[in-house]
Amino acid sequence: MEIGTIGAGAFAQAFAKHALKAGHKVKLSNSRGPDSLREIVNQLGPGAIAATKEEAADCEMVLLAVPWDKVPETLASLPEWTNQILIDGTNPFHGEAGDFTPANVGNLSTSQLIAALAPGARVVKALNNMTVPNLEAEPVVNGARRVAFISADNDGAKKRVQTLLESFGYSVIDLGSLRDGGLIQQAGGPLAGRNLLEQGERHK
Ligand SMILES: NC(=O)c1ccc[n+]([C@@H]2O[C@H](COP(=O)([O-])OP(=O)(O)OC[C@H]3O[C@@H](n4cnc5c(N)ncnc54)[C@H](OP(=O)(O)O)[C@@H]3O)[C@@H](O)[C@H]2O)c1
Repeated sequence: MEIGTIGAGAFAQAFAKHALKAGHKVKLSNSRGPDSLREIVNQLGPGAIAATKEEAADCEMVLLAVPWDKVPETLASLPEWTNQILIDGTNPFHGEAGDFTPANVGNLSTSQLIAALAPGARVVKALNNMTVPNLEAEPVVNGARRVAFISADNDGAKKRVQTLLESFGYSVIDLGSLRDGGLIQQAGGPLAGRNLLEQGERHK
């Protein structure tokens, strides 16, 4: 599969390493264009491609990994979505480094707001709870799998992202809809920033 990233910073690069290891191609993009990404894709290795935002957004699965304050202008700058899966990995923090007060998005979950700004995309909230060091570390720790949460309104898209994250080695927990699950996993919610491990197989 070809996976695009909108944003190519710490979070997108950590995600890309897993996706490349799982055998996917990753088209990384930022606001400055492919030439600014040559060093990053060289470091990531074969399968990593420096792309335009439009090329990245045209992939069947796309990771949104830009700072919260850049989300509206970034989404507004992209072509219309045509059913791609948009993985929302953002956290709603404002620009000041170290300010972890979640932005107020009114009565919506942050991913519902993103879905409203990206009509035509199938938005799946995922991975926002993981820090980059944890995302860069091995998904399996002493036999226990790191837990990744997902929320979405489209079951097919959610299943695809679940399969992708399981192929990275994570234990994936489906929290429900963009609203219900989103509020639980987003910044300020009870699972935000939790670094959880699952031991053994799930007993159903
Ligand atoms: N760091 C973490 O621990 C972590 C973990 C999970 C989730 N997140 C979330 O992931 C998002 C990104 O975090 P990060 O740590 O990766 O930030 P970062 O290292 O600052 O990277 C941000 C990336 O976004 C790009 N960007 C900015 N404006 C853009 C635009 N208009 N169009 C396209 N690309 C644009 C930047 O490229 P330019 O050089 O072009 O500006 C840069 O590549 C944030 O919402 C953050 O809350 C972060």
